[in-house]
Amino acid sequence: MATLSTNPVSARAHTNIALIKYWGKRDEELIIPYTSSLSLTLDHFYTDTTVQFKSNLSEDQILIDGQQPTEKSFQRVHQFLGLIRKQAGFEMPAVVQSVNHVPTAAGLASSASAFAALAAAGSKAAGLQLSPTALSRLARRGSGSACRSIFGGFAEWQRGEDDLSSYARPLFQEKLTDIRVIALTVARGPKSISSRQGMKLSVDTSPYYPAWVKTCQADLERLKVAIDQNDFSQFGRISELNAMRMHALTLSADPDFTYFNSQTLTIMNLVKQLRHNGVACYYTIDAGPNVKVLCQQSAVAKIAATFSKVLGEKNVIVTKPGPGVQYL
Ligand code: ADP
Ligand code: DP6
Ligand code: CO
Repeated sequence: MATLSTNPVSARAHTNIALIKYWGKRDEELIIPYTSSLSLTLDHFYTDTTVQFKSNLSEDQILIDGQQPTEKSFQRVHQFLGLIRKQAGFEMPAVVQSVNHVPTAAGLASSASAFAALAAAGSKAAGLQLSPTALSRLARRGSGSACRSIFGGFAEWQRGEDDLSSYARPLFQEKLTDIRVIALTVARGPKSISSRQGMKLSVDTSPYYPAWVKTCQADLERLKVAIDQNDFSQFGRISELNAMRMHALTLSADPDFTYFNSQTLTIMNLVKQLRHNGVACYYTIDAGPNVKVLCQQSAVAKIAATFSKVLGEKNVIVTKPGPGVQYL
């Protein structure tokens, strides 16, 4: 039998930070969330992924940062490639090489940039020509947050009710353009409870979960008004509040858990202190101990100097709104 192969295709996608968090799946297989969410794509953290399908392989070959992934991570990519193969109507295995320019599984959204890049590179390598919406839907199946990383700037993932209606769209591209996100890294290693496990535990056991679903919708509406009005302080306030409400779902789970460590708490207090002293800044935290400080360009120097003293300069990373997925 002749050996067939497609052309290798490379794509880059950036991570995003959720301002209104996604925390819980209504459908675990299709990754349909209980709530809609809203994020900002960041320019500093990204993943580059190359995919090529080849008929002469016996199985998928996957390298992440030059290494064989764990069985769990392999299966996650393998299953995702299966979705692409199904859409393309062939069975060829693939060679995937992916490099994270973001710490992996540390709560800095590596799964968002990873599956957005894989969706783009994989679908194109398979000969599919997907619209941005179709790409967002596909990326969602790899990691929910990835559906937002197809787009640059602010993106809203409308939860929808089935595979077709659950995808992200860009919005407010001209608003709050001087927004900056200062990532404060206190741990770059992998977390012990993945986002997937953590949100499932919250959905299944936190008595506050129904309240989360209710408040999230209201938080989202208020955040959209704040962005539309270029109202930074309201934007920061609502983002911080929503993040803490999400983390309350880990503390109230059974067994309880938290993504915070002692440095996370120190930083949260310092942000509040800066704010008390007239520096407009707020924090948000994803599923990991690292904190992101939301501010405007004019406050960057002061905030960065404060945290450089505490954490060291290399742990203070100033990021801006970043672009959507692109082919390399
Ligand atoms: P994060 O906060 O980094 O998004 P998650 O728990 O959501 O953490 O996801 C981390 C998982 O995402 C990894 O364990 C791995 O399975 C997958 N992942 C991360 N980077 C890549 C990559 N470049 N290619 C494929 N899968 C990846
Ligand atoms: C706290 O998208 O990583 O960052 O869909 O299971 O892959 P899976 O989870 P993931 O969860 C992200 C959780 C969050 C909030 C957010 O990004 O909205
Ligand atoms: Co993730």
